[in-house]
Amino acid sequence: MSFKIVGTGSYLPPFTVTNDDLSKTIDTSDEWIKQRIGINERRISTDESTVEMGYKAAKAALEMSKTEAGEIDIIISASMTGDNLCPTTAGGIGQLLGIECPAFDINSACSGFMFALDTAAGFFARGKVKKALVVASERISKIIDWTDRNTCVIFGDGAGAAVLEKGDGYIASHLNTCGGDDVIKIPSGTNLSPYYTKECEKPKIFMDGQETFKFAVNTMTNDIKRLAEDAHISLGDIKYIVPHQANVRIIQYASKRLKIPMEKFFVNIQNYGNTSAASIAIALDELNRTKDLKDGDIIAMSAFGGGLSSGSCLVKW
Ligand code: UT7
Repeated sequence: MSFKIVGTGSYLPPFTVTNDDLSKTIDTSDEWIKQRIGINERRISTDESTVEMGYKAAKAALEMSKTEAGEIDIIISASMTGDNLCPTTAGGIGQLLGIECPAFDINSACSGFMFALDTAAGFFARGKVKKALVVASERISKIIDWTDRNTCVIFGDGAGAAVLEKGDGYIASHLNTCGGDDVIKIPSGTNLSPYYTKECEKPKIFMDGQETFKFAVNTMTNDIKRLAEDAHISLGDIKYIVPHQANVRIIQYASKRLKIPMEKFFVNIQNYGNTSAASIAIALDELNRTKDLKDGDIIAMSAFGGGLSSGSCLVKW
């Protein structure tokens, strides 16, 4: 026994930063960003916290699933940009929803939503919960070096959420973490200890774009094949793929290698950029609201990111 997704929601802050806006402060261009990444614009929070954005996405998911907040047995939040180290983002969302239940955070960078869904599946398997809320919210703009054109053009803020209910809709998953901080790294930037002797690095994103790109194409391709094998289905049985929205060229390469047409990949990177853990959660909600998903449709989700981590799953609608 695992779960079925019965509602999705998302929230994007209203303030939009276009490529032309960025090209006023750094050496870049609308043309380069569109061609090399596929992004037209991204949303940036000017006054909303990670918890507040997560709460708005959660409310939308609860509304869609006609679930009262009080019915939720557990909240799991995926984020690497929580407002505080303590208390948790999940706890903050629970407080805004006016409920008390186990609520905790998971951090696996851009793969976080996949790790959170899989963790939720364990609670369902053990019969501990009947309804779960999984939220992914990122205010990644706070850890970006806005003078570094290698990273600041890529990311955006936002949140997505899903309400899960007991069911047989989680049919295969695969998670992995390679370890290492040479390809993607965000130091915590915190050290008040007078006893610690090493240098404290600034809390901003470092990313080796080309290494990440290769890792992304390989993991997305291998993971989706593996999920289909594990679930004893063919790739053609997958109705839609919701990939991590990091670079449209990564998705195009995966489409080519898997011989799955691009029309089956849901792409919204042009509007929001890479919202890290929230990326798949937001895309899943948009897919759910814009396409006519039917009971039994098989959806694949595939994420990769810092860690280096990867996470993928197949769900039956
Ligand atoms: O969720 C985390 C996962 N992250 C990712 O998946 C990121 C994966 N990587 C990528 O998406 C791409 O590698 C990037 C978008 C980060 C970079 O694109 P690229 O096509 O790999 O560019 P590059 O690093 O090979 O750089 C090519 C050229 C360089 O100029 P020269 O040396 O050829 O003269 C860069 O300096 O493009 C230049 N460049 C830029 N030019 C204009 C790099 N960034 C920019 C920029 N605007 N923003």
